[in-house]
Amino acid sequence: MKIELSFSAPTDLEVDALVVPAFEGALPKSLHPWVGELERSGEMRGKAQEMAIIPEPAGFRAKRLVLAGAGPGAKFAAAEARQWAGAAFRSLKAKGLKSLAIQAEAGHVSAVAEGVMLGDWEPDGHKSRKEDPRAVDQVAVVVPGGDPSLDGALRRGLALAAGQNFARSLANEPGNLLPPRELAARTQRMAAAEGLDCEILDEAKLRELGFGALLGVAQGSCQPPVLIVVRYVPPDPLPDVHLGLVGKGVTFDTGGISIKPSDGMEKMKYDMSGGAAMLGAMLAIGRLKPALRVTALVPAVENMPGGNAQRPGDIVTSLAGKTVEVLNTDAEGRLILIDAITYAKRLGCTHLVDAATLTGAIGVALGPVRAGAFTNDQPLMDRVLEAARVQGEKMWQMPMDDEYKEMLQSASADLPNISGGRLGGSITAAKFLEAWAETTPWVHLDIANVAWIDDGKPWLAKGPSGYGVRTLVELACSWK
Ligand code: BES
Ligand code: MN
Ligand code: ZN
Repeated sequence: MKIELSFSAPTDLEVDALVVPAFEGALPKSLHPWVGELERSGEMRGKAQEMAIIPEPAGFRAKRLVLAGAGPGAKFAAAEARQWAGAAFRSLKAKGLKSLAIQAEAGHVSAVAEGVMLGDWEPDGHKSRKEDPRAVDQVAVVVPGGDPSLDGALRRGLALAAGQNFARSLANEPGNLLPPRELAARTQRMAAAEGLDCEILDEAKLRELGFGALLGVAQGSCQPPVLIVVRYVPPDPLPDVHLGLVGKGVTFDTGGISIKPSDGMEKMKYDMSGGAAMLGAMLAIGRLKPALRVTALVPAVENMPGGNAQRPGDIVTSLAGKTVEVLNTDAEGRLILIDAITYAKRLGCTHLVDAATLTGAIGVALGPVRAGAFTNDQPLMDRVLEAARVQGEKMWQMPMDDEYKEMLQSASADLPNISGGRLGGSITAAKFLEAWAETTPWVHLDIANVAWIDDGKPWLAKGPSGYGVRTLVELACSWK
């Protein structure tokens, strides 16, 4: 599918459908005499997701004029424009139309292009015959009277969407087709295409360096672990800042010996969504070229209950030298993250953000709406929250009182990997990670509740959401 800008008058576009926003109470009546008629008859009010199609509209070269409901008000916020464009695109794609022109105001070119590309993604890559062979070939984002200075906005929207769709495609792959080394291979291809540096640390290297916590998780699987490191270095980087993006890359989480119930276990293929978000963010960062150094680190392992699997009660020595008593092998994400966090600090990262499908408990706390955000450094948290707000990714700052740390008690090692009870499970997990972040400014995003969309949305297919990519790219691109 090709997405281009057009500055033509709406009447001049030769397309299957010209899509215009129809705001509630402010329908574009001057466009065509039927618009007022549709409003009077109550067929079209302009509510979100409503759609009215005027075929062969007089005075237009387009075959259809489509009024797409835009909700109350007369203007969008960017996040609304993204969803509006995605929803309109998905319903017209379902009708089998091939060429679309979507009207946008100059400030929303990026959001509209992004909405279209995100709306186009489907989780059906492995169907031998696509359920629905319909595909849109061409989309013009139309800004009547606009000029080529909007090219940058279009490129930005396309880069953000490409990053999110890359992350969604990775998260959607089943465990058999995306073991750690395959995740590494796909990252290498992406990095080569985007001009990024990519280094893969293999099992032997990880053993030599002392990634004891990560290797303990990996040893139950026949699939060897890797640490994926992707580097972006601008020509003249901002001094004193090096952003590290650490993403959980459990390619499948059975729970290990503390095995999970079989009901719904198939979803644990998305337990590398945090890693996928970091890699998707790097794709977009490679294209948008922010001013600071950014390094992504994705520890990738499969958590399996094989004959050599670690046992509850095993004690492992992390890369930092601190020991951990593995009381529950299903709390594996934090074990691979602590070694990656330590390594990120050794690579010189001054600020860390991690994203992980870390705990079921975050969904108990926040439902399927906002990710949980945890920190040891409020200024970095404020940057992340602002980036998330700008990009319309919902998150909520969670508490980090010292009392939660006291819930982590091991008689034999420095720390256990779980707390005694089930209460505050997402917070105790964050306090565990904090013990390795130490004084390096760090934000942890628990995305277990938002990384997968159970019921599709009008603007987004059911499946992996690509959550986090937009916030991380915004964080990097807005850093001064
Ligand atoms: N990957 C899971 C967390 C998860 C649960 C993600 C549901 C998405 C949906 C993580 O590795 C895990 O198993 N966490 C345990 C921690 C517990 C053993 C302290 C959990 O949440 O039950
Ligand atoms: Mn687990
Ligand atoms: Zn997990």
